[in-house]
Amino acid sequence: MDKFLINGPCRIKGKVSISGSKNASLPILAASLLFTKPVTIKNLPRVRDINTMLNLLKSLGSKIILSKDRKTAKIINKKNMKTFASYSLVKTMRGSILVLGPLISKFHKSKTSLPGGCLIGARPVNYHLSALKKLGMQYKIRDGYILAKSNGRLQGKTIKFPKISVGATENSIIAACLAKGKTILRNCAVEPEIKDLTQFLNKAGANIKWSGRTCTIIGVNSLNQTTHTVMADRIEAGTFCVAATLAKGNLQIKNLEPKIINTELELLKKAGSKIKITNNKIFIKGPDKIKSIKNIKTKEFPGIPTDLQAQLMVLMCKSIGKSSITESIFENRFMHVAELQRLGAKINIKNNKAFIEGNTKFIGAELMSSDLRASVALVLAAIVANGKSVVGRVYHLERGYENIENKLKKIGVKIKRLK
Ligand code: UD1
Repeated sequence: MDKFLINGPCRIKGKVSISGSKNASLPILAASLLFTKPVTIKNLPRVRDINTMLNLLKSLGSKIILSKDRKTAKIINKKNMKTFASYSLVKTMRGSILVLGPLISKFHKSKTSLPGGCLIGARPVNYHLSALKKLGMQYKIRDGYILAKSNGRLQGKTIKFPKISVGATENSIIAACLAKGKTILRNCAVEPEIKDLTQFLNKAGANIKWSGRTCTIIGVNSLNQTTHTVMADRIEAGTFCVAATLAKGNLQIKNLEPKIINTELELLKKAGSKIKITNNKIFIKGPDKIKSIKNIKTKEFPGIPTDLQAQLMVLMCKSIGKSSITESIFENRFMHVAELQRLGAKINIKNNKAFIEGNTKFIGAELMSSDLRASVALVLAAIVANGKSVVGRVYHLERGYENIENKLKKIGVKIKRLK
Protein backbone atom coordinates (compact mmCIF):
# COMPACT_ATOMS: atom_id res chain seq x y z
CA MET A 1 0.00 0.00 0.00
CA ASP A 2 1.43 3.36 -1.04
CA LYS A 3 2.41 5.96 1.53
CA PHE A 4 3.33 9.63 1.35
CA LEU A 5 6.55 10.89 2.86
CA ILE A 6 6.25 14.58 3.71
CA ASN A 7 9.15 16.64 4.92
CA GLY A 8 7.88 19.63 6.87
CA PRO A 9 7.49 22.41 7.51
CA CYS A 10 6.74 23.59 3.97
CA ARG A 11 5.89 27.09 2.81
CA ILE A 12 3.25 26.93 0.11
CA LYS A 13 2.96 29.25 -2.83
CA GLY A 14 1.54 29.10 -6.34
CA LYS A 15 -1.56 28.20 -8.31
CA VAL A 16 -4.00 25.37 -7.86
CA SER A 17 -6.57 24.40 -10.44
CA ILE A 18 -9.65 22.82 -8.86
CA SER A 19 -10.94 19.58 -10.39
CA GLY A 20 -14.52 18.57 -11.03
CA SER A 21 -16.61 17.71 -8.00
CA LYS A 22 -16.69 14.06 -6.97
CA ASN A 23 -19.91 14.49 -5.01
CA ALA A 24 -21.65 16.17 -7.96
CA SER A 25 -20.35 13.64 -10.50
CA LEU A 26 -21.61 10.59 -8.58
CA PRO A 27 -25.37 11.41 -8.62
CA ILE A 28 -25.11 12.75 -12.17
CA LEU A 29 -23.52 9.51 -13.36
CA ALA A 30 -26.14 7.48 -11.47
CA ALA A 31 -28.89 9.58 -13.08
CA SER A 32 -27.52 8.68 -16.53
CA LEU A 33 -29.34 5.35 -16.01
CA LEU A 34 -32.61 7.20 -16.68
CA PHE A 35 -31.58 7.92 -20.28
CA THR A 36 -32.18 5.90 -23.41
CA LYS A 37 -30.29 8.49 -25.46
CA PRO A 38 -26.55 9.19 -25.02
CA VAL A 39 -25.35 11.51 -22.24
CA THR A 40 -21.98 13.24 -22.13
CA ILE A 41 -20.51 14.29 -18.79
CA LYS A 42 -17.49 16.60 -18.78
CA ASN A 43 -15.05 17.67 -16.07
CA LEU A 44 -15.18 14.39 -14.15
CA PRO A 45 -12.39 14.20 -11.56
CA ARG A 46 -9.93 11.36 -12.10
CA VAL A 47 -10.44 9.76 -8.72
CA ARG A 48 -11.15 6.25 -7.55
CA ASP A 49 -14.81 6.81 -6.58
CA ILE A 50 -15.61 7.91 -10.13
CA ASN A 51 -14.00 4.73 -11.50
CA THR A 52 -16.12 2.73 -9.08
CA MET A 53 -19.31 4.41 -10.31
CA LEU A 54 -18.30 3.96 -13.98
CA ASN A 55 -17.61 0.27 -13.29
CA LEU A 56 -20.99 -0.04 -11.61
CA LEU A 57 -22.70 1.52 -14.65
CA LYS A 58 -20.76 -0.84 -16.94
CA SER A 59 -21.84 -3.80 -14.83
CA LEU A 60 -25.44 -2.68 -15.38
CA GLY A 61 -24.93 -2.62 -19.14
CA SER A 62 -23.96 1.01 -19.93
CA LYS A 63 -21.38 1.52 -22.63
CA ILE A 64 -18.88 4.16 -21.52
CA ILE A 65 -16.57 5.98 -23.90
CA LEU A 66 -13.92 7.90 -22.01
CA SER A 67 -11.92 10.75 -23.54
CA LYS A 68 -8.14 10.47 -23.62
CA ASP A 69 -7.76 12.60 -20.49
CA ARG A 70 -10.52 10.50 -18.82
CA LYS A 71 -12.43 13.62 -17.80
CA THR A 72 -15.27 13.23 -20.28
CA ALA A 73 -17.53 10.20 -20.39
CA LYS A 74 -20.10 9.48 -23.07
CA ILE A 75 -22.64 7.04 -21.67
CA ILE A 76 -24.88 4.96 -23.90
CA ASN A 77 -27.37 2.62 -22.28
CA LYS A 78 -28.62 -0.65 -23.77
CA LYS A 79 -32.31 -1.30 -24.20
CA ASN A 80 -32.15 -4.20 -21.80
CA MET A 81 -30.07 -3.11 -18.86
CA LYS A 82 -29.25 -5.27 -15.88
CA THR A 83 -30.64 -4.16 -12.55
CA PHE A 84 -28.25 -5.90 -10.17
CA ALA A 85 -25.82 -3.69 -8.18
CA SER A 86 -23.44 -6.13 -6.51
CA TYR A 87 -22.04 -5.95 -3.00
CA SER A 88 -18.48 -6.07 -4.34
CA LEU A 89 -19.02 -2.70 -6.07
CA VAL A 90 -21.37 -1.05 -3.59
CA LYS A 91 -19.36 -1.86 -0.45
CA THR A 92 -16.38 0.22 -1.58
CA MET A 93 -18.44 3.36 -1.98
CA ARG A 94 -21.67 4.35 -0.26
CA GLY A 95 -22.55 6.69 -3.13
CA SER A 96 -23.40 3.54 -5.13
CA ILE A 97 -26.79 3.48 -3.40
CA LEU A 98 -27.67 6.34 -5.78
CA VAL A 99 -28.34 3.80 -8.54
CA LEU A 100 -31.39 2.48 -6.67
CA GLY A 101 -33.65 5.47 -7.49
CA PRO A 102 -32.92 5.49 -11.24
CA LEU A 103 -33.08 1.69 -11.57
CA ILE A 104 -36.50 1.46 -9.96
CA SER A 105 -37.79 4.51 -11.80
CA LYS A 106 -36.66 3.40 -15.25
CA PHE A 107 -36.68 -0.41 -15.10
CA HIS A 108 -39.15 -0.95 -12.22
CA LYS A 109 -36.97 -3.50 -10.50
CA SER A 110 -33.56 -3.69 -8.85
CA LYS A 111 -31.43 -5.81 -6.61
CA THR A 112 -29.05 -3.34 -4.99
CA SER A 113 -26.64 -4.20 -2.22
CA LEU A 114 -26.98 -2.35 1.07
CA PRO A 115 -23.82 -0.27 1.44
CA GLY A 116 -22.99 -1.59 4.91
CA GLY A 117 -21.12 0.13 7.71
CA CYS A 118 -18.73 2.98 7.46
CA LEU A 119 -16.02 4.29 9.73
CA ILE A 120 -17.58 7.70 10.21
CA GLY A 121 -20.90 6.42 11.53
CA ALA A 122 -23.77 4.03 10.96
CA ARG A 123 -24.91 5.86 7.83
CA PRO A 124 -28.18 4.01 7.24
CA VAL A 125 -30.23 4.44 4.03
CA ASN A 126 -33.66 4.46 5.68
CA TYR A 127 -34.57 7.91 4.30
CA HIS A 128 -33.73 6.77 0.77
CA LEU A 129 -35.90 3.68 1.20
CA SER A 130 -38.89 5.34 2.80
CA ALA A 131 -38.98 8.15 0.19
CA LEU A 132 -38.77 5.69 -2.70
CA LYS A 133 -41.45 3.56 -1.04
CA LYS A 134 -43.78 6.56 -0.95
CA LEU A 135 -43.22 6.95 -4.69
CA GLY A 136 -44.36 3.36 -5.22
CA MET A 137 -41.28 1.18 -4.70
CA GLN A 138 -41.97 -2.09 -2.89
CA TYR A 139 -38.99 -3.70 -1.28
CA LYS A 140 -37.66 -6.25 1.12
CA ILE A 141 -34.18 -6.69 2.53
CA ARG A 142 -32.69 -10.13 2.03
CA ASP A 143 -29.06 -11.34 2.41
CA GLY A 144 -27.76 -7.77 2.51
CA TYR A 145 -29.61 -6.76 -0.65
CA ILE A 146 -32.55 -4.43 -1.27
CA LEU A 147 -34.91 -6.41 -3.49
CA ALA A 148 -37.11 -3.75 -5.04
CA LYS A 149 -39.82 -3.49 -7.67
CA SER A 150 -42.66 -1.23 -8.70
CA ASN A 151 -45.87 -1.75 -10.64
CA GLY A 152 -44.86 0.26 -13.67
CA ARG A 153 -44.03 3.97 -13.36
CA LEU A 154 -43.56 5.48 -9.94
CA GLN A 155 -46.26 7.89 -8.79
CA GLY A 156 -45.53 11.47 -7.69
CA LYS A 157 -46.19 12.19 -3.99
CA THR A 158 -45.46 14.76 -1.32
CA ILE A 159 -42.62 13.66 0.93
CA LYS A 160 -41.08 15.41 3.91
CA PHE A 161 -37.64 14.13 4.88
CA PRO A 162 -37.41 13.72 8.69
CA LYS A 163 -33.79 14.89 8.54
CA ILE A 164 -31.78 16.62 5.84
CA SER A 165 -29.90 14.04 3.76
CA VAL A 166 -27.82 14.74 0.67
CA GLY A 167 -28.06 11.22 -0.75
CA ALA A 168 -31.76 10.69 0.01
CA THR A 169 -32.60 14.02 -1.63
CA GLU A 170 -30.60 13.05 -4.73
CA ASN A 171 -32.03 9.53 -5.01
CA SER A 172 -35.59 10.83 -4.68
CA ILE A 173 -35.14 13.65 -7.22
CA ILE A 174 -33.64 11.26 -9.75
CA ALA A 175 -36.42 8.73 -9.22
CA ALA A 176 -39.19 11.36 -9.44
CA CYS A 177 -38.04 12.66 -12.85
CA LEU A 178 -39.79 9.85 -14.72
CA ALA A 179 -42.64 9.33 -12.21
CA LYS A 180 -46.26 10.06 -13.09
CA GLY A 181 -47.43 13.46 -11.87
CA LYS A 182 -46.04 15.84 -9.30
CA THR A 183 -43.57 15.05 -6.52
CA ILE A 184 -42.97 17.59 -3.79
CA LEU A 185 -39.92 16.96 -1.62
CA ARG A 186 -39.72 19.00 1.59
CA ASN A 187 -36.78 19.50 3.94
CA CYS A 188 -34.32 18.73 1.16
CA ALA A 189 -30.57 19.10 1.26
CA VAL A 190 -29.59 22.08 -0.92
CA GLU A 191 -25.87 21.43 -1.40
CA PRO A 192 -24.52 22.96 -4.65
CA GLU A 193 -23.86 19.42 -5.91
CA ILE A 194 -27.62 18.74 -5.78
CA LYS A 195 -28.30 21.96 -7.70
CA ASP A 196 -25.76 20.77 -10.28
CA LEU A 197 -27.65 17.47 -10.57
CA THR A 198 -30.99 19.24 -11.09
CA GLN A 199 -29.47 21.61 -13.66
CA PHE A 200 -28.19 18.59 -15.56
CA LEU A 201 -31.60 16.87 -15.43
CA ASN A 202 -33.49 20.03 -16.42
CA LYS A 203 -31.18 20.48 -19.42
CA ALA A 204 -32.24 17.01 -20.51
CA GLY A 205 -35.93 17.93 -20.29
CA ALA A 206 -36.79 17.16 -16.66
CA ASN A 207 -39.09 19.58 -14.86
CA ILE A 208 -37.53 20.37 -11.47
CA LYS A 209 -38.04 23.58 -9.52
CA TRP A 210 -36.60 24.74 -6.22
CA SER A 211 -38.00 26.99 -3.55
CA GLY A 212 -35.78 27.03 -0.46
CA ARG A 213 -35.61 23.47 0.86
CA THR A 214 -38.61 22.37 -1.22
CA CYS A 215 -38.08 20.70 -4.56
CA THR A 216 -40.98 20.15 -6.96
CA ILE A 217 -40.61 17.65 -9.76
CA ILE A 218 -43.18 17.13 -12.49
CA GLY A 219 -42.57 13.76 -14.08
CA VAL A 220 -41.79 13.50 -17.80
CA ASN A 221 -41.94 10.47 -20.11
CA SER A 222 -38.30 10.49 -21.11
CA LEU A 223 -35.11 12.54 -21.07
CA ASN A 224 -33.24 13.94 -24.07
CA GLN A 225 -29.66 13.55 -25.17
CA THR A 226 -27.54 16.08 -23.29
CA THR A 227 -24.06 17.25 -22.35
CA HIS A 228 -23.17 18.58 -18.92
CA THR A 229 -20.02 19.99 -17.35
CA VAL A 230 -19.71 19.07 -13.67
CA MET A 231 -19.16 21.92 -11.18
CA ALA A 232 -15.85 22.39 -9.35
CA ASP A 233 -15.08 20.48 -6.17
CA ARG A 234 -15.79 22.84 -3.27
CA ILE A 235 -14.24 20.48 -0.72
CA GLU A 236 -10.99 20.31 -2.67
CA ALA A 237 -11.04 24.12 -2.95
CA GLY A 238 -11.79 24.47 0.77
CA THR A 239 -8.96 22.07 1.61
CA PHE A 240 -6.43 24.14 -0.34
CA CYS A 241 -7.73 27.35 1.27
CA VAL A 242 -7.22 25.76 4.71
CA ALA A 243 -3.72 24.71 3.59
CA ALA A 244 -2.86 28.31 2.65
CA THR A 245 -4.17 29.61 5.98
CA LEU A 246 -2.28 26.94 7.87
CA ALA A 247 1.11 27.24 6.18
CA LYS A 248 1.53 31.00 5.72
CA GLY A 249 0.71 30.20 2.13
CA ASN A 250 0.09 32.41 -0.81
CA LEU A 251 -2.22 30.62 -3.22
CA GLN A 252 -4.23 31.41 -6.27
CA ILE A 253 -7.14 28.99 -6.51
CA LYS A 254 -8.75 28.81 -9.92
CA ASN A 255 -11.45 27.06 -11.86
CA LEU A 256 -14.38 27.45 -9.47
CA GLU A 257 -17.20 29.80 -8.63
CA PRO A 258 -15.89 31.29 -5.37
CA LYS A 259 -19.40 31.86 -3.98
CA ILE A 260 -19.83 28.11 -3.41
CA ILE A 261 -17.30 28.31 -0.59
CA ASN A 262 -18.39 31.63 0.85
CA THR A 263 -19.00 30.29 4.37
CA GLU A 264 -15.59 28.60 4.42
CA LEU A 265 -13.81 31.75 3.23
CA GLU A 266 -15.53 33.87 5.88
CA LEU A 267 -14.31 31.42 8.52
CA LEU A 268 -10.75 31.50 7.18
CA LYS A 269 -10.85 35.32 7.24
CA LYS A 270 -11.69 35.05 10.95
CA ALA A 271 -8.61 32.84 11.32
CA GLY A 272 -6.56 35.68 9.84
CA SER A 273 -6.29 34.91 6.12
CA LYS A 274 -6.36 37.74 3.61
CA ILE A 275 -8.68 36.80 0.77
CA LYS A 276 -9.35 38.51 -2.55
CA ILE A 277 -11.83 37.27 -5.09
CA THR A 278 -11.95 38.01 -8.80
CA ASN A 279 -14.22 36.28 -11.32
CA ASN A 280 -13.32 32.65 -10.96
CA LYS A 281 -10.24 32.95 -8.79
CA ILE A 282 -9.50 33.16 -5.10
CA PHE A 283 -6.27 34.75 -3.86
CA ILE A 284 -5.55 33.65 -0.33
CA LYS A 285 -2.67 34.61 1.93
CA GLY A 286 -2.23 32.89 5.25
CA PRO A 287 -1.47 34.86 8.45
CA ASP A 288 1.74 34.73 10.51
CA LYS A 289 -0.36 33.87 13.53
CA ILE A 290 -3.57 31.92 13.13
CA LYS A 291 -6.45 33.16 15.29
CA SER A 292 -8.45 30.58 17.18
CA ILE A 293 -12.19 30.33 16.56
CA LYS A 294 -14.60 29.30 19.30
CA ASN A 295 -17.53 27.04 18.50
CA ILE A 296 -17.02 25.94 14.92
CA LYS A 297 -19.98 23.74 14.05
CA THR A 298 -20.49 21.61 10.95
CA LYS A 299 -23.90 22.00 9.34
CA GLU A 300 -25.72 21.21 6.15
CA PHE A 301 -25.11 23.67 3.29
CA PRO A 302 -24.85 26.66 3.54
CA GLY A 303 -23.10 25.80 6.84
CA ILE A 304 -19.53 24.59 7.40
CA PRO A 305 -19.25 21.23 5.59
CA THR A 306 -18.54 18.13 7.65
CA ASP A 307 -16.14 17.16 4.85
CA LEU A 308 -13.91 20.04 5.97
CA GLN A 309 -14.09 19.35 9.70
CA ALA A 310 -10.85 17.37 9.99
CA GLN A 311 -8.88 19.95 7.99
CA LEU A 312 -10.23 22.77 10.19
CA MET A 313 -9.21 20.83 13.28
CA VAL A 314 -5.60 20.82 12.08
CA LEU A 315 -5.86 24.57 11.55
CA MET A 316 -7.20 25.12 15.07
CA CYS A 317 -4.36 23.02 16.55
CA LYS A 318 -1.95 25.57 15.08
CA SER A 319 -3.98 28.62 16.14
CA ILE A 320 -2.90 30.76 19.07
CA GLY A 321 -5.69 29.93 21.54
CA LYS A 322 -8.36 27.47 22.56
CA SER A 323 -11.12 26.45 20.21
CA SER A 324 -13.85 23.87 19.74
CA ILE A 325 -15.46 22.02 16.87
CA THR A 326 -18.88 20.37 17.02
CA GLU A 327 -19.59 17.66 14.47
CA SER A 328 -23.33 17.71 13.93
CA ILE A 329 -23.71 15.56 10.79
CA PHE A 330 -21.97 12.26 11.58
CA GLU A 331 -21.74 10.63 14.99
CA ASN A 332 -18.22 9.26 14.71
CA ARG A 333 -16.13 11.52 12.59
CA PHE A 334 -13.15 12.15 14.88
CA MET A 335 -10.85 9.28 13.85
CA HIS A 336 -8.18 11.74 12.80
CA VAL A 337 -7.90 12.97 16.40
CA ALA A 338 -5.82 10.01 17.65
CA GLU A 339 -3.46 10.41 14.69
CA LEU A 340 -3.11 14.17 15.25
CA GLN A 341 -2.34 13.43 18.91
CA ARG A 342 0.61 11.33 17.69
CA LEU A 343 1.97 14.52 16.11
CA GLY A 344 1.53 16.39 19.39
CA ALA A 345 -2.02 17.76 19.19
CA LYS A 346 -3.91 18.38 22.43
CA ILE A 347 -7.54 17.58 21.71
CA ASN A 348 -10.27 16.34 24.05
CA ILE A 349 -13.45 14.81 22.73
CA LYS A 350 -16.74 15.01 24.61
CA ASN A 351 -19.55 13.35 22.65
CA ASN A 352 -19.64 15.13 19.31
CA LYS A 353 -17.52 18.10 20.37
CA ALA A 354 -13.74 18.44 20.16
CA PHE A 355 -11.93 20.87 22.48
CA ILE A 356 -8.64 21.94 20.99
CA GLU A 357 -5.69 23.55 22.76
CA GLY A 358 -3.91 25.82 20.33
CA ASN A 359 -0.20 26.56 19.91
CA THR A 360 0.67 23.00 18.98
CA LYS A 361 4.12 22.22 17.68
CA PHE A 362 3.59 19.23 15.45
CA ILE A 363 6.56 16.85 15.31
CA GLY A 364 6.68 14.53 12.27
CA ALA A 365 5.51 10.95 12.86
CA GLU A 366 4.15 7.90 11.11
CA LEU A 367 0.40 8.28 10.53
CA MET A 368 -2.45 6.14 9.28
CA SER A 369 -5.33 7.36 7.11
CA SER A 370 -8.79 6.21 8.08
CA ASP A 371 -11.09 7.90 5.57
CA LEU A 372 -10.96 10.36 2.73
CA ARG A 373 -11.16 13.65 4.60
CA ALA A 374 -9.31 12.45 7.69
CA SER A 375 -6.39 11.46 5.49
CA VAL A 376 -6.11 14.84 3.81
CA ALA A 377 -6.11 16.41 7.28
CA LEU A 378 -3.10 14.28 8.19
CA VAL A 379 -1.34 15.47 5.05
CA LEU A 380 -2.05 19.09 6.05
CA ALA A 381 -0.69 18.46 9.52
CA ALA A 382 2.44 16.83 8.07
CA ILE A 383 3.00 19.92 5.88
CA VAL A 384 3.34 22.11 8.98
CA ALA A 385 5.04 19.52 11.23
CA ASN A 386 8.72 19.65 11.97
CA GLY A 387 10.55 16.77 10.33
CA LYS A 388 9.45 13.78 8.35
CA SER A 389 5.97 12.29 8.45
CA VAL A 390 4.75 9.21 6.66
CA VAL A 391 1.03 9.07 5.87
CA GLY A 392 -0.11 5.50 5.23
CA ARG A 393 -3.01 4.13 3.19
CA VAL A 394 -3.07 6.96 0.67
CA TYR A 395 -5.70 5.07 -1.33
CA HIS A 396 -8.21 6.85 0.92
CA LEU A 397 -6.99 10.16 -0.52
CA GLU A 398 -7.15 8.84 -4.05
CA ARG A 399 -10.87 8.14 -3.62
CA GLY A 400 -11.58 11.85 -3.80
CA TYR A 401 -8.57 14.09 -4.49
CA GLU A 402 -7.39 14.22 -8.10
CA ASN A 403 -3.65 14.22 -8.55
CA ILE A 404 -3.11 15.44 -4.97
CA GLU A 405 0.56 14.56 -4.90
CA ASN A 406 1.43 16.64 -7.97
CA LYS A 407 -0.85 19.50 -6.99
CA LEU A 408 0.92 19.71 -3.62
CA LYS A 409 4.39 19.37 -5.16
CA LYS A 410 3.65 22.25 -7.53
CA ILE A 411 2.92 24.59 -4.63
CA GLY A 412 6.06 23.70 -2.70
CA VAL A 413 5.18 20.71 -0.52
CA LYS A 414 8.06 18.29 -0.13
CA ILE A 415 6.08 15.12 -0.76
CA LYS A 416 7.19 11.76 -2.13
CA ARG A 417 5.27 8.57 -2.79
CA LEU A 418 6.67 5.46 -1.15
CA LYS A 419 5.59 2.23 -2.86
C1 UD1 B 1 -22.97 13.08 1.34
C2 UD1 B 1 -21.56 13.23 0.81
C3 UD1 B 1 -20.53 13.21 1.94
C4 UD1 B 1 -20.90 14.25 2.99
C5 UD1 B 1 -22.35 14.12 3.43
C6 UD1 B 1 -22.80 15.24 4.35
C7 UD1 B 1 -21.64 12.26 -1.41
C8 UD1 B 1 -21.27 11.13 -2.29
N1 UD1 B 1 -21.30 12.15 -0.12
O1 UD1 B 1 -23.05 11.81 1.98
O2 UD1 B 1 -19.25 13.49 1.39
O3 UD1 B 1 -20.06 14.09 4.11
O4 UD1 B 1 -23.23 14.13 2.28
O5 UD1 B 1 -22.63 16.46 3.74
O6 UD1 B 1 -22.19 13.25 -1.84
N2 UD1 B 1 -28.81 9.48 7.32
C9 UD1 B 1 -29.71 8.59 7.86
N3 UD1 B 1 -30.49 7.87 7.01
C10 UD1 B 1 -30.42 8.00 5.65
C11 UD1 B 1 -29.49 8.92 5.11
C12 UD1 B 1 -28.70 9.64 5.97
O7 UD1 B 1 -29.82 8.45 9.08
O8 UD1 B 1 -31.16 7.32 4.93
C13 UD1 B 1 -27.95 10.28 8.24
C14 UD1 B 1 -26.47 9.97 8.04
O9 UD1 B 1 -26.05 8.85 8.80
C15 UD1 B 1 -25.83 11.26 8.49
C16 UD1 B 1 -26.83 12.32 8.02
O10 UD1 B 1 -28.06 11.64 7.86
O11 UD1 B 1 -25.74 11.29 9.89
C17 UD1 B 1 -26.47 13.03 6.75
O12 UD1 B 1 -26.11 12.09 5.77
P1 UD1 B 1 -26.28 12.37 4.21
O13 UD1 B 1 -26.51 13.83 3.99
O14 UD1 B 1 -27.29 11.43 3.67
O15 UD1 B 1 -24.83 11.98 3.66
P2 UD1 B 1 -24.47 11.19 2.35
O16 UD1 B 1 -25.43 11.50 1.26
O17 UD1 B 1 -24.23 9.76 2.69
